[in-house]
Amino acid sequence: MKTVYLDNAATTPVREEVISEMITVLGSDFGNPSSTHSFGRKARSHIELARKQIASLIGASPNEIIFTSGGTEADNLIIKSSCESLGVKRIISSEIEHHAVLDTVLKMKSQGVEVCFVRILPDGSIDYEHLETLLEEGSSKKQLVTLMHVNNEIGNLLDVQRVGELCNKYQALFHSDTVQSVGHYKWDVSKVKIDFINAAAHKFHGPKGVGFAYMNKSCKLCPQIIGGGQEKGIRAGTEMTHNVVGMAKAFEIANAHLENEKQYVLALKKRFITGLTSKIEGVAFNGLSADSESSTYTLVNCRLPLTESKASMLLFHMDLKGIACSQGSACQSGSQKGSHVLSAVLTTEQKQYPSLRFSFSIFNTEEDIDYVLEVLSEFCNG
Ligand SMILES: Cc1ncc(COP(=O)(O)O)c(C=O)c1O
Repeated sequence: MKTVYLDNAATTPVREEVISEMITVLGSDFGNPSSTHSFGRKARSHIELARKQIASLIGASPNEIIFTSGGTEADNLIIKSSCESLGVKRIISSEIEHHAVLDTVLKMKSQGVEVCFVRILPDGSIDYEHLETLLEEGSSKKQLVTLMHVNNEIGNLLDVQRVGELCNKYQALFHSDTVQSVGHYKWDVSKVKIDFINAAAHKFHGPKGVGFAYMNKSCKLCPQIIGGGQEKGIRAGTEMTHNVVGMAKAFEIANAHLENEKQYVLALKKRFITGLTSKIEGVAFNGLSADSESSTYTLVNCRLPLTESKASMLLFHMDLKGIACSQGSACQSGSQKGSHVLSAVLTTEQKQYPSLRFSFSIFNTEEDIDYVLEVLSEFCNG
């Protein structure tokens, strides 16, 4: 049976070059990077080379990069330690952040930090004027703004430059969850007024279980995992050398081919949108995901005009036909809870219809897109 993987916002296939580099490290360079003998020094040199490569790809210094187990840990590290060691007393965020941010922010609230959410407009974009009002209202306190660059469900892009300027104006710290952005958009932290970003390698054809936090050198984080003092005392635990090397390789390749790959993936997205619109009457798009200027080129979130009984069969049917896509966010699949992002942006009427997220990568082809369009239109029109 034909299989088509259109769930790249959940995770991406690992590139061959990344796998082969990781296998070399796993096979020969197994030393503990903290050991002082030659085996340890070899592993340490891999870690520090990867740190330098990653730092230079985002315009940072190596000592501003902390390796973590992925995006979630980096979000936790940044938000919790901003409150613990950087004196943050008020957090401004949004209700459409990934749970790694949202739940961490709510945890901080339960510990006495003031939390407010910026207004979300019906198209899923943030109300920048409201953000400024909130910043002004809280300007007597140390504030942290945490807003994601690319929304993982509806694909909306944040104007990070604008938010950075606003945060600078009110002397607030600025974190952007860039897990869906790093490896897909060029980042230069020296050109944006931003204090923290973070990434997960598996979103850009690297391995799972590894990511990084960037912290501006003026904002030193404090550890949330304590023990052996690795990562300059900010994140304890023996470094996962093969994963870190794999992440650096995946990031290097992604950045080197970013423009070409972006054009390729964007063409697939446009083909998919055009096909959906012409084949399925009444199809609609959530957030700004059909607008190629204001949303990421990597995903589309569509709402289908189906009855309740048909809607209940939709994901199952796609899976039967070998198609992997996602209802809401994949991070929630398996849970019966609906998407908090769609709940925040859709009207009661719109929420009655099922939504699917399709996310693309360079490993997809036009044939994949056409196959999915055929299966979906047969299901919806049948
Ligand atoms: C925007 C965003 N932030 C954070 C995460 C969490 O990353 P990880 O699963 O690598 O911990 C995800 C994962 O889907 C994400 O999309």
